[in-house]
Amino acid sequence: MKMQLITRSIGAPINRIDGIQKATGKAKYAYEYPVEGAAYAFPVQSTIARGRVSAIDASAARARPGVITVLSHENAPRLAHLANTELEVFQTDAVAYHGQFVAAVVAETSEIARQAAELVVVHYEELPHHVELRADDKALYKPPTVHEGQDVTDRFDGDVEGALNSAAVLLDQTYTTPAEHNNPLETHASIAIWDNAGITIYDSNQGPHAIRDTIATAFRQPPERIHIITQYVGGGFGSKLSAHPPIILAVMAAQVTKRPVKLALTRQQMFSLTGYRTPTIQRIRLGADNNGHLTAIAHDVIEQTSTSYEFAEHVAVVARRMYAAPNRRTTHRVARLDMPVPTYMRAPGECSGMFALESAMDELAIACGIDPIELRIRNEPTIDPETGHPFSSRGLVACLREGARRFGWQQRDPTPRARQEGRWLIGTGVASSTYPVYYSPASASAQVDHKGNYQVHIDATDIGTGARTALTQIAADVLEAPLEQVQLMIGNSDQPAAGYAGGSSGTDSWGWAIFNAANALHTKLRDECGGVIPAEGLSASGTFDANPELQQFAMHSFGAQFAEVHINRDTGEIRVPRLLGVFAAGNIVNPKTAHSQFMGGMTWGLSMALHEASVLDPRFGNYVNHDFAGYHIATNADVGTIDVVWLEEDDPHVNPLGTKGIGEIGIVGTAAAIANAAYHATGIRVRDLPITLDKFL
Ligand code: MOS
Repeated sequence: MKMQLITRSIGAPINRIDGIQKATGKAKYAYEYPVEGAAYAFPVQSTIARGRVSAIDASAARARPGVITVLSHENAPRLAHLANTELEVFQTDAVAYHGQFVAAVVAETSEIARQAAELVVVHYEELPHHVELRADDKALYKPPTVHEGQDVTDRFDGDVEGALNSAAVLLDQTYTTPAEHNNPLETHASIAIWDNAGITIYDSNQGPHAIRDTIATAFRQPPERIHIITQYVGGGFGSKLSAHPPIILAVMAAQVTKRPVKLALTRQQMFSLTGYRTPTIQRIRLGADNNGHLTAIAHDVIEQTSTSYEFAEHVAVVARRMYAAPNRRTTHRVARLDMPVPTYMRAPGECSGMFALESAMDELAIACGIDPIELRIRNEPTIDPETGHPFSSRGLVACLREGARRFGWQQRDPTPRARQEGRWLIGTGVASSTYPVYYSPASASAQVDHKGNYQVHIDATDIGTGARTALTQIAADVLEAPLEQVQLMIGNSDQPAAGYAGGSSGTDSWGWAIFNAANALHTKLRDECGGVIPAEGLSASGTFDANPELQQFAMHSFGAQFAEVHINRDTGEIRVPRLLGVFAAGNIVNPKTAHSQFMGGMTWGLSMALHEASVLDPRFGNYVNHDFAGYHIATNADVGTIDVVWLEEDDPHVNPLGTKGIGEIGIVGTAAAIANAAYHATGIRVRDLPITLDKFL
């Protein structure tokens, strides 16, 4: 499969092609497009978690000068039925969660819309609600029926209970993670225009084609009549993968008012309208012999989902493939609560699952009296325990060894509380990282004009990762053209179809389609035109459908993360002066942007470990800390040194470029490494995130 590619651009630490545009404010984000005659929408949100709207008094709002209309279930246009009923904005009087849209004001300015929204009086008939994920609420838990991403059906291999009962060393612990919210810098925003051309939406998302299809279905339009334009995106982290209620509202408001409608969520609105990472309750049981060889792994997960749609996160699947236990059990149970639909958040599944599994491996190492790195090496599988396939490449042991060398692990005294400097207890910890290689079908076109300027078109998105730059590097090398002569056109649903910026699959999948399109153009130019570009130029296209080698190989990235944690013995204050991540993630297209991806993931892992938690008020079903004052995200002052390195990894099976995806693995394992280091520092094991100072006092 691997073709001879002379890499001039690939592998070079090139600055972002759009860096200057972004830094100087010239790059246009969705809300910034100038449109003639725009109106502005502002929603009214429910204040109950379950029930129905019994009456709406919008008279004061309608009387406010500048108000164009007030929308609600009483007057909204009818939408098609959608699988996710959360998207069925204003279709019934039912309230399914706190914060749901129950009305919206459309006005001449955003200020008027916002003020008038406060004048809308909504009366409710309230019903009892279930909003809390609780371990003792067994009646609520059901096996998942819908599978988003990986398979979450129960998996039983071998005799788990027997192996656990007869294990020389048994670990049985429960780990919990809180709800967390995706907080991209740019909040969700759309400008919807409904005219003779169809519906045009400038929108902040992670994949215009996916958004286009949802809008087409909801508004019963042919997909070709929907045009989604997404040139620049200020982060998404999973919350912009799929459509949420705001874009439906924007389009509906444009339909009703026959005006372009702008809608940007406030930060606070995002906490109920654009998804979140489900809280989890994870029981892990590990059985091992006296030498630390695992005989059984059981990972049983309870998580929440909504009544509007069953989004089930694949939290336990990491236990299927990480270690070589002959007996394995993974189960997921979901509670359908009167809450918003959870969604993908950076490394959904792996991130929460590996906090539990890698904490448990640390506890097992201590119980066996074995170094935690050695324990992991002893349980390194030779083939994928789940599929029985060989790994296309698996760098876990190499990452652990290289990390140990760089971090100075050999000097570590494993005894808890052995190191103290002044009032600070000092500990170090380690955990593994993993993330699958995902693909989604993609197509691309490439053209060249008579001057030798190339254009490559694909409906990819750059959500801040550097994809625009990395994909241009790939195209330039295949075309054997200088980078400056290659223009990459992305972020428009009128371009050749491609999957979203998610699952760390962009470079693999878009890159493969671009590789094929550029290769087709290059070949055509050579074979049909003798290398001379015709006056009218030349074009070609290419597609990527699937990687057939996935049937023969298990494909994942791996890594190892090391943390040094200082905990003040008087106050419990926690500091993380040092993190090291070593990754084996295939070929790296752009070391500069890749470094940022890994470091960003690890920074968020630290934030997950120490800060992030969405706090529910069970009386009302809302998250109370719904802004940056209450929902703490790690800032520079919280972060010390983060060292990122990666190993050379030549994987000929993943794609012609040998890339595996790097967007998500950085957050996987960080929280466990920090929890393990915190235990080493203090002798106190924290099994519920975040690790706050009260847990050490
Ligand atoms: Mo990522 S959670 O697949 O955007």
